[in-house]
Amino acid sequence: MKLLLLCLGLTLLCAHGQEKHDVVTSNFDMAKISGEWYTVLLAADSMEKIEENGSFRSFIEYIWVFDNSSLLLKYNKKINGECTALFFVPDEKEEKGVYDVPYDGQNSIQIAEAVYDEYLILYVLNFDHEKTTNIIVLNARNLDVTPRLRKAFEKNCEKYGIPTENIVDVSNADPCIQTRGNHGSQSSSTCCKKEPGVLKLRLSWH
Ligand SMILES: *[C@@H]1O[C@H](CO)[C@@H](O)[C@H](O)[C@H]1NC(C)=O
Ligand SMILES: *[C@@H]1O[C@H](CO)[C@@H](O)[C@H](O)[C@H]1NC(C)=O
Repeated sequence: MKLLLLCLGLTLLCAHGQEKHDVVTSNFDMAKISGEWYTVLLAADSMEKIEENGSFRSFIEYIWVFDNSSLLLKYNKKINGECTALFFVPDEKEEKGVYDVPYDGQNSIQIAEAVYDEYLILYVLNFDHEKTTNIIVLNARNLDVTPRLRKAFEKNCEKYGIPTENIVDVSNADPCIQTRGNHGSQSSSTCCKKEPGVLKLRLSWH
């Protein structure tokens, strides 16, 4: 009887553990990737893209998912000494979780792996007119880089032929961190409860 209870207990424990870290690698539920994110690890096969002033040394603030499955991504980047917000509104391609984004040339962005409430690994193929660069990005719900997260990231880098020494921890490198949110701590997550007003702003610039 004791043994049976022990087994039952272990089964429940294991099931619970699995549920908590559900790793998704295809058929992404895009609604679940919406919300606030931080850029914590970057890797590339050409370091110039992700070093201090590189085009991909930029820091995600949030992702908003529209009903039509287009995304709104807000990034922050220091440009000419000023923290500058960058907005992207990519449409989904035929393949689920794949997006084209014009930035420093053209990019194909693909979600490689996700644990919706914990992290998101993006695989970016950048074509500027001279060359093609593979870039892997780890976005996380908070700034901690746990060993498990790092391991998941390294595994993905390996898959795309990027060596471990090309991984940079940028969790403390965002020069615009204080510009995040809607000024004031109480409203830091207003971005993700309703459609960000900034979109209307952005669209009216066109
Ligand atoms: C990045 O740009 C800033 C200002 O434009 C400059 O002061 C700094 O030296 C640059 N860093 C690198 C690594 O090029
Ligand atoms: C989806 O909706 C957003 C916001 O209205 C718009 O900017 C975007 O172009 C739309 N995408 C498609 C594929 O219609």
